[in-house]
This record gives sequence, structure tokens and C-alpha cells, in this order.
Amino acid sequence: MGYYRALIFALGYLGATEAQFNNPKGVDIWCGKAYRPANSSFDPGGWFVEPPISPVPLLNLRVRPRMSIYLETDNEASLLIDASISQQIGQPLPGNSTGYASESSKSLDVEIFSNGATIGKTSVNLGATNMELPVDLGQFACGFDGQNISILATLDGTHTYNASTQLFRLPAPEDYGSVSRMDNLYGGLWIQREDEPWRHIFPYTYYVQWSLYWDSNVTTLDDFAALGYNVIHIVPTGSLGEKPFPWDQFEPYLQRADELGLYLQYDVLWEPENITGMLEQVERLKRHRSLLLWYQSDEPDGKGNPPDSTGQAYDRIRALDPYHPASLALNCHDFHYAEYARGGDIITPDVYPISTNTSFSTVYGTVCNATYGCCGCDGCAGEFEDIAGRLDAYRRRDALLGWSKAQWFAPQAFGNETFWARYPTAAEEVVMTLLAVNHGAKGIVMWNYPTTPDILDVTNRLAGVLTSGTVAGFLLGAPATETLSVDGASRVDAALWVDKTASLALLSIVNLNYGNINSAIKIMAPDGIRFTSISDSLWGDLSWDVENESALSSVNGMLGLQVSILLVNIAVGQ
Ligand SMILES: *[C@@H]1O[C@H](CO)[C@@H](O)[C@H](O)[C@H]1NC(C)=O
Ligand SMILES: *[C@@H]1O[C@H](CO)[C@@H](O)[C@H](O)[C@H]1NC(C)=O
Ligand SMILES: *[C@@H]1O[C@H](CO)[C@@H](O)[C@H](O)[C@H]1NC(C)=O
Ligand SMILES: *[C@@H]1O[C@H](CO)[C@@H](O)[C@H](O)[C@H]1NC(C)=O
Ligand SMILES: *[C@@H]1O[C@H](CO)[C@@H](O)[C@H](O)[C@H]1NC(C)=O
Ligand SMILES: *[C@@H]1O[C@H](CO)[C@@H](O)[C@H](O)[C@H]1NC(C)=O
Ligand SMILES: *[C@@H]1O[C@H](CO)[C@@H](O)[C@H](O)[C@H]1NC(C)=O
Ligand SMILES: *[C@@H]1O[C@H](CO)[C@@H](O)[C@H](O)[C@H]1NC(C)=O
Ligand SMILES: *[C@@H]1O[C@H](CO)[C@@H](O)[C@H](O)[C@H]1NC(C)=O
Ligand SMILES: *[C@@H]1O[C@H](CO)[C@@H](O)[C@H](O)[C@H]1NC(C)=O
Repeated sequence: MGYYRALIFALGYLGATEAQFNNPKGVDIWCGKAYRPANSSFDPGGWFVEPPISPVPLLNLRVRPRMSIYLETDNEASLLIDASISQQIGQPLPGNSTGYASESSKSLDVEIFSNGATIGKTSVNLGATNMELPVDLGQFACGFDGQNISILATLDGTHTYNASTQLFRLPAPEDYGSVSRMDNLYGGLWIQREDEPWRHIFPYTYYVQWSLYWDSNVTTLDDFAALGYNVIHIVPTGSLGEKPFPWDQFEPYLQRADELGLYLQYDVLWEPENITGMLEQVERLKRHRSLLLWYQSDEPDGKGNPPDSTGQAYDRIRALDPYHPASLALNCHDFHYAEYARGGDIITPDVYPISTNTSFSTVYGTVCNATYGCCGCDGCAGEFEDIAGRLDAYRRRDALLGWSKAQWFAPQAFGNETFWARYPTAAEEVVMTLLAVNHGAKGIVMWNYPTTPDILDVTNRLAGVLTSGTVAGFLLGAPATETLSVDGASRVDAALWVDKTASLALLSIVNLNYGNINSAIKIMAPDGIRFTSISDSLWGDLSWDVENESALSSVNGMLGLQVSILLVNIAVGQ
């Protein structure tokens, strides 16, 4: 969890005896589970329910707008259509259709409707995802209501399937300093300030507690910005937890952040039982130029807030401000995910696997298992794979729920407290971060700053790489292939982002082993991509060679916890 973190929040503004919902009276819970030695295990419930496996293949037809919102001033818009084949969700494919998956020639005739009128036609291959279809934005009414769009797909002229979505074309808000939105194709966050064009941003930063850092002097913002981070997350501890909120003390920070070009992931001070403070915060700050997104709650699943409360908060925030997305951090492996995650466009799992005993709680002296105990990293094995596994699991659930959410990640940058015997090393910090990026994280917010000099030094350098236009351009603007095959070693995680137009790819290679790999390693290109030469090395001093067009190699292997980020020249096609 961050017991320490939970405690801060509990004392800060939740009240130490926060009401929980699934537990016997007087039994404290984390992720729904009893964890005090005097209490015994009970069934926490709330496990994600997998849709049953269908006896016949299903067509999972989906449609959604490319961007979460459009402005009336935008010129371009598009829809994304999926016609994937699923075993769990969708409508049955005709007859025994097991052969369809490999028949790429099979296609669906798709008609697009809005307000009862046909607004487009296209054809989508069976099995295709993210088929992008431009639409004329001008045909949609401008307003705050979603425009209903439905699609009807016909297969073999006989079988029909349908899906629907809403597209938002909002009035350009004259009095707003910024507007931001989610890209449903690549998961990135895009921001537009006043008359500037839209641009994407890969947030790379730390959670920073007000009472431990910012509070001392507004010049802390200058110091922090100078380190290369592009977003700030002010954890509202200390005087920021007071009522009424100390606006006079806080305003100079907002102004300085703006002058420094720092964006805000802004914590709305949401309390499940009293939303007055949150409404005041959103109303007061929604027009601020530096506002990037709202942070609506921190580990609500760990704390056992009412499961529907995050969704309610989301709706309230959106009703006041449809111009910025909302995020939240989830700490539990599997506790009412669908309910809690409804509260965020962006979900940030915080999985802290370094130097914690995940089977026996060093703080409470109990075992930790699926129904009992708190070990600081829920459902973890205490290894890097906990991070990739959590991101993959959340994304899989989102797909089953039919959601387009993005994921960020909160790497561990703390230790020597409660469940965690020590801080991560600099090498571990980079491994956790790039592993999360390799598994789809579109923003990184580490818990927390101040941290050790070693971690700070390495993250300062990493900030220069991850926030650069080149890297952000790949992470937020190009399709990725995750978990590339790797020959010659296990526990080496690699992902590739391909810009076909530029014939260039970004490759991130992470050695999860603490020990060195002393023999040759080969990273295999995905189908349809050929490596031609290494263009540049953006991180790490390991030298990779193009073995042949389908493999990059390092003849001497990799050092323990080594990470390489490369730009590779490629050719597209077989
Ligand atoms: C749970 O543990 C607390 C002490 O931590 C104790 O006061 C309480 O009676 C216990 N409740 C149950 C139901 O075991
Ligand atoms: C479906 O068709 C395939 C290929 O014709 C065949 O191998 C398979 O046994 C069939 N399955 C069922 C359940 O009929
Ligand atoms: C879209 O559909 C919903 C639900 O059917 C309806 O309430 C709403 O009025 C529709 N919106 C528009 C703009 O027609
Ligand atoms: C598909 O069409 C049916 C009949 O018009 C409608 O009831 C249903 O809501 C539609 N489903 C989707 C996902 O749009
Ligand atoms: C804040 O820092 C500045 C620059 O170091 C200094 O001049 C000023 O006195 C400090 N203010 C406070 C309240 O400490
Ligand atoms: C709710 O919070 C507001 C300020 O955020 C405070 O003024 C009010 O007293 C609180 N209400 C209750 C019932 O605690
Ligand atoms: C966790 O703690 C238990 C009980 O003290 C111990 O047996 C086990 O070896 C520890 N595991 C790790 C990975 O430290
Ligand atoms: C977890 O541990 C508790 C305490 O030993 C035990 O009562 C419970 O049955 C265990 N749960 C599982 C799922 O193993
Ligand atoms: C770990 O924490 C203890 C107690 O807070 C402190 O005395 C010690 O200096 C810390 N060690 C490191 C390496 O930070
Ligand atoms: C390229 O190298 C890889 C790894 O050694 C090997 O598996 C593959 O067959 C080679 N491909 C070609 C086209 O030579």
C-alpha cells in the first residue's frame, strides 16, 4: 500500500476511522482484507468476474471516437473501429467460425449512423482493431451532450452486428487556460493552451508532499522544474488539509507553476462523505492554464472507500469541467476493480515490490494471502514482474469491460519504512520505470520526492529522455509491440514502437535479472518489421548490433538490471 502513504491520507483528510463497507465492525481492512493479528480472515469479495468462455467464437465489435473530446474549433476527428474475435465478449460469429481468425480476407461491411442518418460506410477486416475512419466534425452539433453514433456491421451479407458510442464536440471555452483530452488510440494525453495547437505530453514526475517540500518556499517549484520534470503532483498534506483551504498561501504556487511551464496533476481533495471541498477546488481551478488533469482519489480500493464513490466523483467533476480528464491510483491486485476504476480516464497502479516480504507482514506479524494480511504490495510476489503483471491485468479487464482507459504507473522511489526494508537502487528505479513503459504506461509519477540522491540523480537523467519530443512521440504517437521474443536469456523484457513513415523505431530493452547475462542475447523483430541499422542509443551504454534484419544482438549479453533505449532504423514489410 504505502501504509505510510495511507496514514498520511487518513490523518490528512479522511479521519482515522473511515467507514469501510465489506468488513465486520471494528476490523480494519486494506484491499478489503483483515490485516490485524487480532482479527481473522474473512472473504473480502470484490474479485473481478471473468465473462464465461463462449463455446463459439464471438465478434467483439466496438466503436469509439479517437479523442475523448473534440472542440468546435477542431478540424479533424475520427472513429476507431474494432472487429476483434473474442472467446468472452461479443455476439456469436456464424456457425462454426473457428476458421475466420486466419481468414484475413473476410471483411465486414460497416455502416455508420448518427441521429438516424447514415454518415459513412467502410469495410473492416475480421480480427482488425483500431481501424481509423475520419469523420467530418462539422456534421455534429456543438454542445455538452454526447452525439450518439452507432455502427451496423454485416458479415457474409447475412449476419449483422452492432455497437455504439458517443462523440463529444464541445464549445471552445473562451475563459479556459487549457483543455486536455485522451487519445483512445495510443493512450496519450493531449493538451491545448489558448490558441496553441494540440500537443501530447508524457508526464514524468514524482508525488511530492506539501508538508515535506513545497510548503517551505515557492522557490521549490523553480528547483523542481530545473531537474527536468514536466508535471507536478502536490500531495495535499499539512496545511493543505485545513478547512477552509488556504488559498492565499497556495495561489502563488499556481502562478509560479504556470510561469515555469509545469503542468498540474491536481489532487481535488475528494472525500467520499463530503464533496464540498472537491467542488470548490474544481470550480476554482478548472480554468487554470497549468491544469493538465484532475487526480480524483488515491488508493480508494486499499482504503475501502465505497466502491461507487469514485464513479460518483467522476461524474461530479465532469459535470463541472468536461475539459480535463481525471485519474486515480489503485493499489489492490483485485478488489472491486470495475467499480473503483470507473472513476478515472487514467488508472495509475502503484505496485511497490522492492524489499518487501510479500508473504509475511513485517509490520503486523501475520501471513499475507488472497483473503488476509497486508504486506505493502497486494497480490505481489516481490519481483519486477508484479509491475508488468498488474498493468497487463488491468488492461485486460478494461478490454473485457469495453473501456478505453489509459494507464500510468507509480514506481517505488521510497523505502526504509514500514513494509519496505530499503530504498530501491538507481538501477532498480530505471528497471521498474521502463518495464512499466514497456507494458503500456503513458505517464510516470513516482512515490515520492524527496528520495535518495542516487534515485534522484538517475531520474533527473531519465527525465531528459522520457520527456523529449522524440521519445514521447513514439510512446504517445506510434503503435507498440510488447514482449518481443528474446533469444538467449529469460526475464529480458523488450518493446518496440514503430513509426512507419519515418522508417524508425524506438526499442526499449530491460534486463529484470540482478545477475549478469554472460552470453549472447538476441531481440527479435516483430512480423513485418526489418531492422536495418542502429540510429542512436538514448539510454544505457550497451552496444547492440544488427545481427540480421530480424534480430538485434548483444554478443556479450547484458549486465544485471541493465536497460537500453535505442532508436533503430527499420524497413517495413516482409
Ligand atoms: C479486531 O482487532 C481489534 C484490535 O486490532 C480488536 O479490537 C477487535 O475486537 C477485533 N475484531 C474482531 C471482530 O475480531
Ligand atoms: C470447426 O471447423 C473446423 C475446420 O473446419 C474443424 O476442424 C472443427 O472441428 C470444427 N469445430 C466444431 C466444434 O465443429
Ligand atoms: C443519445 O442517446 C441517449 C440514450 O438513448 C439519449 O438520452 C440522448 O438524448 C441522445 N443524445 C442525443 C444528442 O441525441
Ligand atoms: C444493437 O441494436 C439493438 C437493436 O436496435 C439495440 O437494442 C442495442 O442497444 C444495440 N447495441 C449496441 C451496443 O448499440
Ligand atoms: C524563499 O527563498 C528565497 C530564495 O532563496 C528567499 O529569498 C526567501 O527569503 C525564501 N522565503 C522564505 C519564506 O523562506
Ligand atoms: C464539508 O467540507 C466543507 C469544506 O470543504 C466544510 O466547510 C463542511 O463543514 C464539511 N461538512 C461536513 C458535514 O463535515
Ligand atoms: C518472509 O518472512 C517469512 C517469515 O519471517 C520468512 O520465512 C521468509 O523467508 C521471508 N521471505 C522473504 C522473501 O524474505
Ligand atoms: C489466509 O491466511 C489466513 C490466516 O492464516 C487463513 O485463515 C486463510 O484461510 C488464508 N486464506 C487463504 C485463501 O489461503
Ligand atoms: C532508515 O530510517 C531510520 C529511522 O527513520 C533512520 O534512522 C535511518 O537513517 C534510515 N536509513 C537510511 C539509509 O535512510
Ligand atoms: C536472424 O538471426 C536470428 C537469431 O540468430 C535467427 O533466428 C534467424 O533465423 C536469422 N534470420 C535470418 C533471415 O537469417
